[in-house]
Parts: sequence; C-alpha cells; structure tokens
Amino acid sequence: MKPLSTIAENVKESSTLAMDTLYKKMKADGIDVLGFAAGEPDFPTPDNIKMAGVSAIVNNATKYTPATGILQLKEAICHRLLEDCNVHYEPSQIVVSSGAKHCLYIILRTLIDPGDEVIIPTPAWVSYNEMAQMVGATPVLIPCPEEDHFKLTPEKLEAAITDQTKCILFNNPSNPTGMVYTKEELIVLTDVCVKHDLYIIADEIYYKLLYDGAQITSIASLGEAVKEHTILVNGVSKSYAMTGWRIGYLAADTKVTKVIARYLSHSTGNPSSPAQTASVEALIGTQDTVETMREAFEERRNYMVERMNQMPGISCLKPQGAFYVMMNISKLIGKTMYGQTINNADEFGDLFLKKGLVCIVPCTGFGAPEFLRWSYATSMDNIKRGMDRLEEFLIGAGIE
Ligand SMILES: Cc1ncc(COP(=O)(O)O)c(C=O)c1O
Repeated sequence: MKPLSTIAENVKESSTLAMDTLYKKMKADGIDVLGFAAGEPDFPTPDNIKMAGVSAIVNNATKYTPATGILQLKEAICHRLLEDCNVHYEPSQIVVSSGAKHCLYIILRTLIDPGDEVIIPTPAWVSYNEMAQMVGATPVLIPCPEEDHFKLTPEKLEAAITDQTKCILFNNPSNPTGMVYTKEELIVLTDVCVKHDLYIIADEIYYKLLYDGAQITSIASLGEAVKEHTILVNGVSKSYAMTGWRIGYLAADTKVTKVIARYLSHSTGNPSSPAQTASVEALIGTQDTVETMREAFEERRNYMVERMNQMPGISCLKPQGAFYVMMNISKLIGKTMYGQTINNADEFGDLFLKKGLVCIVPCTGFGAPEFLRWSYATSMDNIKRGMDRLEEFLIGAGIE
C-alpha cells in the first residue's frame, strides 16, 4: 500500500482530548478520579435554546441550508457583534460553520499557500499549531512568559515577522492562560500587524467570560484599517454552553467570505440546520443565562486561585477570562515525588492522575512545559475536592 499523506500522518492527537478520554476511561472503570481537563461549560444548554432546537426539528427545519448558514442566523450574529463588540458587519460578511474550530481551519485553508508562516503567541490552544501544519504553513511560535502575563509584546511580534508571514492567530481571552488584553495593548499589537499587512485571525470565543469587571475589546473594533485585516472568529459553544451543537462563525471582508463560501460548498456544506435555528435563539434571546454562568465561573475561579496560591511548591496568576487556571510547577522540576523525579509537566500530570486521582492538562502541547491547566468549568464541590487532593498530593510528597 502506498503511504498516507505525510502532512496527515504528522498531525498529533489533541492533548486535552487525550487526557479527557483517559479520565473518562478511569471513571468508567469505577475509579474515584476527578476531571479538570475538559474545555466545556458543565452547565446544560439553557432551556429557551433547547426548545428552539426542538421546534426546529418538529417544524422540519431539517433540510440543507446555504453552505454558509441561514440569513436569520447571520442577522442574529451581526446584531450580537454590534451590541457586544461594537463592530458593524453585514450578513454577507458572515460565514457560519460547524464550530469555531472549523472556522479557524477553513480560514487557514483560505489564507495559506505552502511555506507561508503563521505567527502563534504561546502558550496557545493546542489546535493552532496542528491546524497551521495541516494546511502546509510553517508555525512560528513566540513564547510569552508568565512574567509578561503570558502576553505578546509588539517588540516580540515585530521580531518574528518575515517576508513569508501571512497571519497571526490571536486568542483573547486566552485558552489556556485566561489572560485578557487591554485595549491599549491591542492597539499597539494591531498597529504592527497593519504595518506589515498581516491578516489577524482574532479568536474571541471566550469573549463573554470575563471577570473583575474586565471588558472585551474586539480587535475588529479598533478602526477600519484593523477591521479590514481582521477575520473575527466566535461561536456559541462557550458562551451558551452549546459545545455539542457545533455552531461557530467568522466575520470578514467579503473578498474573504466569498472564497470561504466556495470552499465550504464543496466540503462540509451547511452546519446542522436545527442547531442553526437554536443558535438564533441563543444570540437574540435573553442573555441573562450567560450572566448566571459567568458569575458561577467567577466564584469558582476566585476559590481555585486562592487555594492554589496557599499551597507549597506551586503558584498561579489570577486569570481575568475564559475558565482556565495555569498552575506553575517550575519549583518542582528536578524534585523527587513519590519516588519519581519530575522533569516536566507531563510527568507531573501523569503522577498526579495515578497517585492523586485528579486529571489536569499538562501544557507541553500548549508551549508551556512547566505549567498544567486546570479547567474550572466544573462544580464548586468538585473544585473543593480537587484542591484538597492537590494539597494532600503535594504535602504527602514532602513539598514545603
Ligand atoms: C481558543 C479556542 N478556540 C476555539 C475553540 C473551538 O470552539 P468550538 O466548540 O466552537 O469549535 C476552542 C475550544 O476549546 C478554544 O478553546
């Protein structure tokens, strides 16, 4: 048999999904393991949205739709973007697809020729690096350390740009760091992008999950020149607890959306039609349920961060968005715990799962080998038990 595609063979498994699968298997085997790996809200989809999906099915909204989504949903997206992000788009500038993940992939497919470079500030969501390689791009990773609050600086960005740079994959609020850029920080970064004529792929999927009164500045709201260079990505998964419905969207200049539309029409076709109708309700119906979930996340974050920073050997910054905490284990590197020397986050994660019975995600795949990501998209009760187990695990290993 001839070999499979080299590009396809080189795609790595998602480390977050791998950890979650392992956790689910241990749980199915009857082991009392706690899971903090999943990147999805633990809340059910709000009832008004579920009912809109049910009535779409009952009323036969179950056929093909235009490949880029129904007009009603595009209008709802324009309405929400204007209301929440202060950016004006026309429905012709919107493409709806099967999740923000697929939007990101299709954008890269549309922008990239082999050999183009894609800038990715790290720590970054695992899929960015893989997706860039899947379309034949060269990912250029820019490490952004904890002392810079994991944020990209204009100097670092400028230094990474070459004649081959096509775009930057920019995630705000960030998975995994939970950091949120200020408007001033975004202005200087986008100035550099516009100066070098780079596309800015602005993944704002966590934009509704902000804490301590932080406000979102959508990149596309920073003036016409920035908007022209921006391809905005968002979706209903995280804000409305709709991860399984698979609806994401992008907003861009019609030069871009027209090409994407042709690509989709020959590949996926439209995203699920009942899920599109449910998403209309999510976007134009009450937003109170989002606020209720956001408040719960904020309370959990406060608890987790406070507990973690009281424990020996580890620390974390207080994130302002999304639902993740980055635990710094750099002080434990080289130490022996339960008879095993810890050389990196993977080894810590493995040991913590086996001895501490808690599943968290080592951030090696995110570009941060001395950090592990905790998701607080789980109940307060679980979080309390998880923090207790972490404390016992560290103290039991003699960490002071
Ligand atoms: C940064 C980021 N972008 C995009 C996505 C994908 O979201 P969706 O469920 O809409 O595909 C995720 C999901 O984990 C994410 O963390």
